[in-house]
Amino acid sequence: MIGQAAERYSRGAILLHWIIAAALALVLAIGFGMPRDASGFALFQFHKSLGITILVFTLVRIGWRLTHRPPPPVERGFNGFLAGAVHFGLYAFMILAPLTGWALVSTSPIQVPTVLFGLVPLPHLPLDPALAENFENAHWLMAWIGLALFALHVAGAMKHHLLMRDGVLARMSPGGSAKAGMVLFGVVLLVGAVTFAILPGHEEGSEPVEQDIAAVAPDSASTDEAAAVEEPEATEEVVEETEEAAEPDEPAGPPPSWSIQPGGSLRFVADNAGTAMRGSFRRWDGSITMDPENPAGADIRIEIELGSATLGDATQDTMLAGGDFFGISANPTATFRSTNVTRTGANSYRANGTLSLKGASRSQAITFTLSGSGATRAVSGSATVDRTGFGVGTGENAAGLAPSVRVEFAFDATRD
Ligand code: HEM
Ligand code: HEM
Repeated sequence: MIGQAAERYSRGAILLHWIIAAALALVLAIGFGMPRDASGFALFQFHKSLGITILVFTLVRIGWRLTHRPPPPVERGFNGFLAGAVHFGLYAFMILAPLTGWALVSTSPIQVPTVLFGLVPLPHLPLDPALAENFENAHWLMAWIGLALFALHVAGAMKHHLLMRDGVLARMSPGGSAKAGMVLFGVVLLVGAVTFAILPGHEEGSEPVEQDIAAVAPDSASTDEAAAVEEPEATEEVVEETEEAAEPDEPAGPPPSWSIQPGGSLRFVADNAGTAMRGSFRRWDGSITMDPENPAGADIRIEIELGSATLGDATQDTMLAGGDFFGISANPTATFRSTNVTRTGANSYRANGTLSLKGASRSQAITFTLSGSGATRAVSGSATVDRTGFGVGTGENAAGLAPSVRVEFAFDATRD
């Protein structure tokens, strides 16, 4: 049934409707499109700022609606009910999406301050950090529910405008002009589509983050075990014994060089206030020259792109890249270079060398084992790094973080 389509929404309602619609298209596109690493920091801040702005505008809009009566519904019956339900759902989405986002950043294990548009600090909500994952899921779910409601709402509006031609679009258009409404509709879609298209976050390459983390099999026991393996006393004696044993086989020529094959892993884990904080580096490489039978003349160099560090959460990754942790803007890479490599067992080794990280260079030991024979070897090993020696992890956000970080790696190397 067709009602009084001639009655319109008030000017304020129309203004708020379209401002919020455009802002939502933008915040959704940024949410789905922002890269999940340090390069997304500014976008994250903008996403959060815009999200909170939408919350404020929505509260104003609800206040406005309570004091300015909307025109009577155009349709009654089931369709009228459906339109009303979608509108109600959209209001709920406009409130719950920002609130779940706010809750998620408030409970994140690594706290990143939010400064709205670089001007107004947003305090964190006093919520239980144990709920972090729930809020993350809720925020994701709200975004998808909102997108679905948005699609239903637009489909309904277009059905009325193009098929039923009952003037519903004009009710929500500036000056009562359905043409203006169509233009605004186009602007909203364009804002969302263009923003999403130019952002890199949804492209291949940003996806593997989660897979990487999933591959970092979270067997909690390994952390403690690991610390034990690294006890220097345990290995020191063996080193001396085996060093002599290894001496006699003088190599005939220069040690062979090996290529690190793609698909390896370089992970780190540290205790953070009682829970293991696990992450990995996605981009690293190195060069190895070493005769496994006689490692004395070996030269091992590893280079790690610190901006590729990920904890599987974009917010936390941004934190890692920042000055309190890796400070990638001043020192984007960390390097390890061996000074002497010794054999500690039948197929186990220890490389002493220098780790350069965040502008500091300090001696660092790495232990590793080789398996396989011939031209391809599986390499796996670990190191315990004293992060405090490099100034990694300062400030409030690292308050609960243990000083030593265990680094683990596994990769295949083939002889060149
Ligand atoms: C209307 C408001 C909002 C909408 C529609 C929205 C939408 C989205 C979407 C679509 C994503 C990507 C979902 C995913 O892939 O997990 C996202 C992620 C995110 N949002 Fe929002 N958001 C809003 C407000 C906020 C606010 C107010 C904050 C914080 C103050 C916030 C913080 C975040 C964070 C930190 C992420 C990244 C989560 C992660 O990757 O783990 N959002 N948002
Ligand atoms: C971009 C395309 C959009 C178009 C063409 C559009 C069109 C319309 C139209 C024609 C109405 C009036 C319905 C009536 O008179 O019964 C309306 C109302 C409404 N729209 Fe939209 N809209 C769009 C986007 C959005 C977005 C993104 C949201 C929010 C998430 C939204 C939320 C609402 C709400 C809550 C109402 C009901 C207002 C009230 O009764 O208080 N719209 N919209």
